[in-house]
Parts: sequence; structure tokens; C-alpha cells
Amino acid sequence: MTLKKIFGLFLIFSTGLAIGQTGKNIPEVEELLSKMSLEEKIGQLNLLTPGGGVATGSVVSEDVEAKIKAGNVGGVFGVSSPEKVRQAQDIAVKSSRLGIPLLIGSDIIHGYKTTYPIPLGLSSSWDMELIQEAAQLAAKEATADGINWNFSPMVDIARDPRWGRIAEGAGEDPYLGSQVAKAMVKGYQGEDLTQPNTMIATVKHMALYGAPEAGRDYNSVDMSRLKMFNEYLPPYKAAVDAGVESVMTSFNDIDGIPASGNKWLLTDLLRERWGFGGFVVSDYTSVNEMIAHGMGDLQAVSAMAINAGLDMDMVGEGFLTTLKKSVEEGKVSEEQITKAARRILEAKHKLGLLDDPYRYSDERRPEKDILTRENRDFARKAATRSFVLLKKHNNTLPLAKDAKIALVGPLANNKNNMLGTWAPTGNPQLSVPILEGMKNVAPQAKISYAKGANISNDTSFAKKVNVFGERIQISEESPEALLREALDLANNSDIIVAVVGEATEMSGEAASRTDIRIPASQKKLINELAKTGKPVVLVLMSGRPLDISEEMVLPVSILQVWHPGVEAGNAVADVIFGDYNPSGKLTNSWPRSVGQVPIHYRMKTTGRPGPENGDFQKFKTNYLDSPNSPLLPFGFGLSYTTFEYSNVKAGSKDLAKDGSIQLSATVTNTGDRDGEEIVQLYIHDKVRSVTPPGKELKGFKKVMLKKGESKTVSFKISAEDLKFYNSSLEHVAEPGEFEFFIAGSSDADFEASFTLKK
Ligand code: BGC
Repeated sequence: MTLKKIFGLFLIFSTGLAIGQTGKNIPEVEELLSKMSLEEKIGQLNLLTPGGGVATGSVVSEDVEAKIKAGNVGGVFGVSSPEKVRQAQDIAVKSSRLGIPLLIGSDIIHGYKTTYPIPLGLSSSWDMELIQEAAQLAAKEATADGINWNFSPMVDIARDPRWGRIAEGAGEDPYLGSQVAKAMVKGYQGEDLTQPNTMIATVKHMALYGAPEAGRDYNSVDMSRLKMFNEYLPPYKAAVDAGVESVMTSFNDIDGIPASGNKWLLTDLLRERWGFGGFVVSDYTSVNEMIAHGMGDLQAVSAMAINAGLDMDMVGEGFLTTLKKSVEEGKVSEEQITKAARRILEAKHKLGLLDDPYRYSDERRPEKDILTRENRDFARKAATRSFVLLKKHNNTLPLAKDAKIALVGPLANNKNNMLGTWAPTGNPQLSVPILEGMKNVAPQAKISYAKGANISNDTSFAKKVNVFGERIQISEESPEALLREALDLANNSDIIVAVVGEATEMSGEAASRTDIRIPASQKKLINELAKTGKPVVLVLMSGRPLDISEEMVLPVSILQVWHPGVEAGNAVADVIFGDYNPSGKLTNSWPRSVGQVPIHYRMKTTGRPGPENGDFQKFKTNYLDSPNSPLLPFGFGLSYTTFEYSNVKAGSKDLAKDGSIQLSATVTNTGDRDGEEIVQLYIHDKVRSVTPPGKELKGFKKVMLKKGESKTVSFKISAEDLKFYNSSLEHVAEPGEFEFFIAGSSDADFEASFTLKK
């Protein structure tokens, strides 16, 4: 019987599965499994990339077509466009024995072709509707181009800005990170995966990938269970709870066992404790990398991975080449392989691929759905919401639209660095440089431009950064000549706007830095500009928190814009000319120096708290040469207006264990412009069975306030919200007093309290 006929027969009986569910009740899947040889089942567990996309490892798959024909491939990535995907599905459907269609994967990290700001930037909007919509639009574009499975969201908690992939996540906090994870999964997957504008999401990298020792990518992680459960695991769990269909393992080891072969992680925790029903894919060759981790040869590590609960092997082909032998030798059961194959087939069923392998190959869609004006407008709006105003000086901002401006800096008229890291599906040449955006938004302004400095003068550093394109372009002109030209313009203008910071690939994968300052070439430019006495605005681009201690004390204003995406220039211009009043807040603490790293606001008080005023005190937890506090705290961000908080109070003094309580504050716009404020609630559990964090974010709301307007903002809190994992890893709320404050940043004092009753 042909596959089509089998489907025809069983479709009638198919019950279908809701997102996130699994089981043995899909007749098509069971029928298919009953016909599959062991080799064909193993074939479903093999994920290949034929090249053409950006390879993040040293291996690219070979003979992909022949392998698909032989039934040796379950999915591919790095293939896009309806035509190419149709061709790939044709090979699978028409030339392999059972004609099973392929999963078509891709890394769509911050937009497909319409590139949004980097994820760390998007998280700084604290706007979950916006983030969900961003994921939804990315899914619409990607599926129009044939993709049905996305390797996003990355939800790794990161507190170490040396780690380059901090750019790809949502910062340091488990509560905020969980909200972002949920919004992205819902955005990508929608309500119904059979809809052709939704795709399977992958939460990654399970687990703890954001906590490598010394901030060096791929390095080991060692962490207590208590810390994992309370601080690092919540966002992965939130994605699972939101129905994510796929999970990607991380490269690192956990408790001495690499994630891709870690049974505790992939089976005990993920499947049994959390009830995950989708499939688990390895990261790029991470199964093979267990050899280098010291876990044995390829056969041993592949057996270890499948027995641990890993379903699909990305690129390495360890499963394909060794699992049969391991079954014959009794090292892996055929049942284990059947289970994994079932999960892959279920995913294909959920996508509707078993019904119609060409569901994502509609040639008319790209033109209708990709890089539309509407999508670009959304990218522009999203970028403006991601910017964080770090410093205001003399009300320089916003600029008048007819000002005489010297626009300088290596990122001021630059297309190559606007998209940010990990935007392999975007085209840098389509991005709007800052110069162009400023001219679009303020045609009356008199803008002159000079580069002023190279991103870095260090050729060997530039070579390492320029792997995917010429991100750091070192000019023929000498650094002195570049500087002179910029200073001449600056001296002849009313205002200086300097666009400075990191090139795109100075952050991202395999881009860790030990020095997180602005490169020396640009620091020199900034210092000289500040000496001119003219008003200076630094527009700062980076994929990580930087150490800007030296810039913060200069007479300059600073607007952090991350890597803003395809509409970079227009979005930056919208904000610096005041069409949008910035509202973003940092989702990481920015350190005073790399010596404070790792740093985050949720630190414990310890038994010897350091003095709150930052003074040094012997035998307390503090540094001889630095305050403990960060340069810029988590949750911090200014606006062109100002906000004041008053009347912070609890609706009642007691909270019953099955009741709820309202915690509220009055927020007033005390400046002379309308603006949005991200109102944040932090609590402190005063006494509990395991040492509590000094403060914890428990809620946030973004509110619009007209100038002079006041609003009461309240948060409903129940015992559920106060839960934490205790020493037995039970999720509990313990009775007692809780202090709280409601403010515009994590850096505020507790103002009120309530008591959770027994
Ligand atoms: C990255 C993953 C990515 C994969 C496939 C790896 O190097 O760690 O995040 O999804 O490559 O491109």
C-alpha cells in the first residue's frame, strides 16, 4: 500500500494531538512504525545540513540526497525557499521506500528576513505582546519560505557578559526569562501547528548553557541543584509548560555528564518531572563531542545519548552509523529507538506533513509574506521599544529636527553591523544605516558624517570577528586622520552624535571577550569628542552589557540600541529626534568592571552583608577596589520624561495560603512629555528554609502616562507566586513575612510588607 493510501485510511480515525501532547494514539504514526525497519527508524533520528546555510561547526553533511533516498534522514536544515523545500520533500516522498516527509529546520533567532533587534534587545522592551508578535511574524515569514521547525527560543539565563551568546537570550532573571520563553513559544507555534503560518519551536540549550566557567563559550558548567531549580531551569520549564514541541540540548556538561547524554536531565527531569511530550534534538555535533568530553568512542556516546532520552542527532551521524550495531550488541533496545522515531513522526503529524508534505511549499507566499512593508514597520517599532536610555546630560535629547549635527563613529554609516549576531537568514545590505535613517526622519537637519575611528585597529582581532563577513573594516586612512576629520566636523556643528560599540560578531556564538569595554580606537574618539565642549550623544551598539564606567562620567548622553535589526537607522532616528520616547529597561546588570562578573541583582545577602552605601568594611562581603553594586542595575532605563513612585502598599497585611493580595503603587509622570514606564514589583522572603535572594522580580507592567498623569498600578499575588524550591527540591511557599517594593528599577528600597499565613 502506498503511503498516501495508508494516510487516507487512517486519517478518518485520527484523533489528533494537542500541542505538547504525546501518546501512541495516532494511527498513521503507529501504522508507519509497524512498517519500518530498524534502519528506517534510525534514519528518522538523523538531522543533516546540506550546506548553504551558516555552519556553526566544522562538519557539513555529505551525500544528503542519497541519504534521504535511502530513508536515512528525518530532517534537514539550511534549506529554504518553497522550490528547494519542495525538491527536498520530493526526494523524501517519492524516492524513499516509505515516503516520509522531512522536518525542515532553521535558526530564526530574531526575525527571518525582516530582522528585529537581537533577543537581548527585544527582552529590554519587557513587552510580551510585542515579543509574541515578533515570533508570530517570524513564523509567518519563515513558513512562507518552506521552514516548519525553528531552533528558537534560546532561554539560557546569562549573568556573565563575557559570554558572547548573552546576546541571544533574555538576560539574567528567571521570572522575566520565563515570560519571554512563553511568549516566543506561543508566537512561533500559534494555536494550531497544522496552520501553514506556524512552526515548531525549540527551546534551547537545555540546560545551563549560559553559565560556562569564566564566560568562555562551550566551557563546563557546575552548579548546585538548588541553584538550577530556582534560577536557571525556570525558563526551559516555562517553554515546556507553554507546549514547546522540541528541546535542544546544550554543549556543556551538567554534574559531569554532557547534556546530550544526561539521562537525569532528558528523562527524569524533562519527561518524567515536567511531562514534556515532544522530541529532543542534540546541538550541532554535540553527540560526537562527548568523545572529546571523555565519554568514550562514537558508538559508546551515541548509545549513551539515545538511552538518556535524546531523539535526534544533529549533523554528527553517530546515531546513523552506530545505533544498529548497539542494538545487535544489546547496548540499546529497539524499543528505545522506536520511542524516539515515534516522537519524530508525531512532530511531522502535528505539522500536518504526513497529510500534505508540501504544506510549506507554496510558491506564492514569499512575495506576499516576506519583508513586507508591514513587517518592516513592525521591526522599526520593535527596535524603538528595545532601546535603553542609559544617561541623560543637559537635556541634549531629543534633538531638534533642524539641528546641525556631526554624525560620527564607525557604526554611523554601516550596513554590515546592523542586524546583530545569528541573523543568517537576514541580508545586511537591506538594513537602514543610521545616517540614512536620520535623513529620513529629519530631512531638515544639516547632517555631516565622518567615520572617526575603526571599530578596532587590531588586525588580528578583526580577522577573528570577520568570519561571516567584513564586520570590522580597517580604513586605509590612519587613525589620526580619521579622528581629525571627525573633530573638524564636530567643531563646526551644534551637536555630535557618535555611533560606537561592538561589531556584530563581537558577540554571539564563539565570541567571548575578557575585556568588555568599548575598543580602544573608539574610546579615543569618544574622549576627544567629549573635550570639544559640544553636546554629545553616544548611540551605543553591542550584543552584551559593556563596561562603560569611563564613558558614564563624561559629559555625554548615552542611548543603548543593541544591534537594532533591518530598520536600525529609522528606529534610532525615531528615538533621538523624539518621535518615540525611550522606555526600555536593562535585563542584565551592567558591571563596573569585568572583575565583578558574574553579576546579577538576585544575589543573596550572605551572613556578612556589605555596607549598603558602598563603603568598604573589613570582614564584610565587599571588594577593596570597587563597590558591590553594578554600574547600571537590572531593570534600569531612563526616559525623556521622569516618573515618581508613591503610596506603595499591600491591600491587606495578611495573605491566606489559598487567597490573594493586591500590591500597588501610584506612578506619576512628573516630566514634561508623555511616556511609557515599566513598573516592577520585587519581593524579599525574609525567613525561609533555604537562604533567599536579596530581592526577586515577581511582576511588571508597562504603562503609558501622559505628562502630569498618575495611575495606580497593582499586582495580584498569591502563595503560588511566592514558591521556591527547597532543599528537597519541592516547590513550596513558606509562611512568614515578605517585604516588597514597586519601582522603575531593581535598585530601590523595600517599602512595605505582608505576611503569608499558615
Ligand atoms: C548552536 C545552536 C544552533 C545550531 C544549528 C549550534 O552551533 O549552538 O544554537 O541552533 O548550531 O545551527
